[in-house]
Amino acid sequence: MTEITIDKKGLHPRNIHNKRYDFSLLMNNFSELKKFVSKNKFGDLSVDYSNPEAVLTLNKSLLSYFYKIKEWNFPQGHLCPPIPGRVDYIHYMADLLSESNSGKIPTGKKVKVLDIGTGATCIYPLLGNSVYGWRFVGVDIDSDSVNTAKKIIKSNPHIKNNIKCRYQKDSQNIFDDVIGSEERFDFTLCNPPFHSSLEEALEGSAQKIKNLNTNKQKKGLKAKSKDVLNFGGKKAELWCPGGEIEFIKRMIHQSKNKDKQCFWFSTLVSKKENLATIYDELKKIEVKDVKTIDMNQGQKKTRIVAWTFLSKDEQILWSEKNW
Ligand SMILES: C[S@@+](CC[C@H](N)C(=O)[O-])C[C@H]1O[C@@H](n2cnc3c(N)ncnc32)[C@H](O)[C@@H]1O
Repeated sequence: MTEITIDKKGLHPRNIHNKRYDFSLLMNNFSELKKFVSKNKFGDLSVDYSNPEAVLTLNKSLLSYFYKIKEWNFPQGHLCPPIPGRVDYIHYMADLLSESNSGKIPTGKKVKVLDIGTGATCIYPLLGNSVYGWRFVGVDIDSDSVNTAKKIIKSNPHIKNNIKCRYQKDSQNIFDDVIGSEERFDFTLCNPPFHSSLEEALEGSAQKIKNLNTNKQKKGLKAKSKDVLNFGGKKAELWCPGGEIEFIKRMIHQSKNKDKQCFWFSTLVSKKENLATIYDELKKIEVKDVKTIDMNQGQKKTRIVAWTFLSKDEQILWSEKNW
């Protein structure tokens, strides 16, 4: 049995991935993982994080054991999301909801969430539904991704009534044509495309491989000169014209049209230098409240920015009426 020690990954306190992975447990529950696990130079069981197949299989084993998602298949080339970081966003949003619900996290189907850019893996809906029982609508402009996400939902029958996917045919739209006139969402979330061009996205991926190789060398492991890109990511998943900031600006301005239909709007902001512009844009549309939530995911620092058009009184009314 692998010893479990606190790894100080800096994840949310309720994030069950705060500790080192128990590879023995994961392998026992997900036998496909066995062929990727070996002892590292410290004698601990681990996988080669620069091998895309190993990373995908590790993620599948986590989803299967901790989140009861038994089938999670998507074509090669799609972004393979690391589970610990994705579930962090979910936990922080749960805390935000609890702030207007007498400190209690609202759970179950009464909470409805919109995931903008859900991707082929449908990762946020799968995690949010598993951990808190929330209902989700996932949206994407990539029809292949939407179809794959629908297949994942169908192949895990216990979630099929709780997660729906919608295709957004206009890439300029974020909320328009997605939120019906009578619909309400308790929050929206988004991991936006962050690069502004395909070249930038490819450069970013090359840098990630370089960092992995440097880490490997530090750990006394041999870095392969041609380590394969383990993060995946079809080009449209990783970039859009204007990059993260233009995407978020569009989201902010379109949120105004749905001001009373969603309690919180939120997005990840990976570039800290984008915050000033984001706050300026939020001020222009006269939001009532803005929250910035820092997240530490290993060596990566990122943040959620959330905003609402509801006054304090309206927030209380919302929670009383809906939760
Ligand atoms: C960085 S990926 C995030 C995928 C997944 N949510 C994750 O975290 O792994 C961004 C996603 O946004 C989608 N996207 C881009 N523009 C969009 C839009 N206007 N509306 C909805 N989705 C969009 C892309 O197709 C892609 O799947």
